[in-house]
Amino acid sequence: MEISSDSQDRHQNERTGASGPDGDFVAAPFPVYAFVNQKGGCGKTTTAVNLAGALSARGDRVLLIDLDPQAHATLGLGCSPDRPTVVDVLLGDASLEEAVVPAPGRLTLLPAEPRLAEFEEVSGRMIHPEQRLRAALAEAASRGMTFDHVLVDCSPRADGVLCANALYASTCTFLIVETGAFALQGAVQALKVLDEVAENQNRTFDIRVIGTMFDRRTKFARELLVALHARFGEAMFETVIRTSVRLREAPALGVPVQELDPNCRASTDFAALAEEVVEMNLDLVLEPVAPPAAAPLSPSDSSPGSSVSSASAADPIRERALRRP
Ligand SMILES: Nc1ncnc2c1ncn2[C@@H]1O[C@H](COP(=O)(O)OP(=O)(O)OP(=O)(O)O)[C@@H](O)[C@H]1O
Ligand SMILES: [Mg+2]
Repeated sequence: MEISSDSQDRHQNERTGASGPDGDFVAAPFPVYAFVNQKGGCGKTTTAVNLAGALSARGDRVLLIDLDPQAHATLGLGCSPDRPTVVDVLLGDASLEEAVVPAPGRLTLLPAEPRLAEFEEVSGRMIHPEQRLRAALAEAASRGMTFDHVLVDCSPRADGVLCANALYASTCTFLIVETGAFALQGAVQALKVLDEVAENQNRTFDIRVIGTMFDRRTKFARELLVALHARFGEAMFETVIRTSVRLREAPALGVPVQELDPNCRASTDFAALAEEVVEMNLDLVLEPVAPPAAAPLSPSDSSPGSSVSSASAADPIRERALRRP
């Protein structure tokens, strides 16, 4: 579908009150977690969906945003939504309220569809396309929509504009690390990518690491977990998500694992992780992030991630992750 981004930029800004480079920006007053890793198949979607289910099972109000054109979170919750979806929200053609749907596990889902990939294409002609999601959340909040947690499932394209939206909106970045071969190298590589995005967005990311697909029967996995803790220290959640057949079955049935079996080990793991996330939030200060002071992009200067000032570099993310108090 062909989309004219200039008019949509104006449209979006009128709808959402999103700032241009000089405008005021209102941060969404929710804890927002971006689930990232450029490694495909490492468990981002599984962790996002089932952590959402665990937080909801505690009685919290949870919004799950599917920001991956593969739409695995959407499909794994048994949803095949009619439009509008998240791409319409990003383009300013629908509000968050118009696009969200109820999902199993008492979740609220902002669904995705393959058409979301087109946002990557048209975003090059937009002003600050990476700010769209955060603006939509802020607008929804200003109209009284409220959540205790917003979880954003990202595609493996960590340096793309969709992931940049998730990171820009996030109050905390959850780096998902599969406890398998090359996990440490993959995590370090992911930190480098995040470092570049942080520099482009002229901000820092608060990074926490979640180990997943852990099989305690293998010596390799146990040693790797020790190495991950040594490397990331307190940035790592204590809870590690173990391998579980239930986690493969649940998406086939279109439910979070808690709905399938509230007492299985996967439900137990995600309940423990949810506890840690809630505790983490008690320490989080949700501060608005000032918009970057970059000039608007010209249509020819439109590569994703280059749309904000990188003049003043953020604190190195790696150091933040490693030296987290
Ligand atoms: N803890 C686990 N135990 C068993 N299987 C798991 C676990 N976590 C994820 N899986 C399985 O691994 C596969 C990949 O998981 P998932 O789709 O969550 O990865 P992803 O990082 O979101 O992938 P992508 O990068 O393509 O978005 C899926 O088949 C999923 O069911
Ligand atoms: Mg996924």
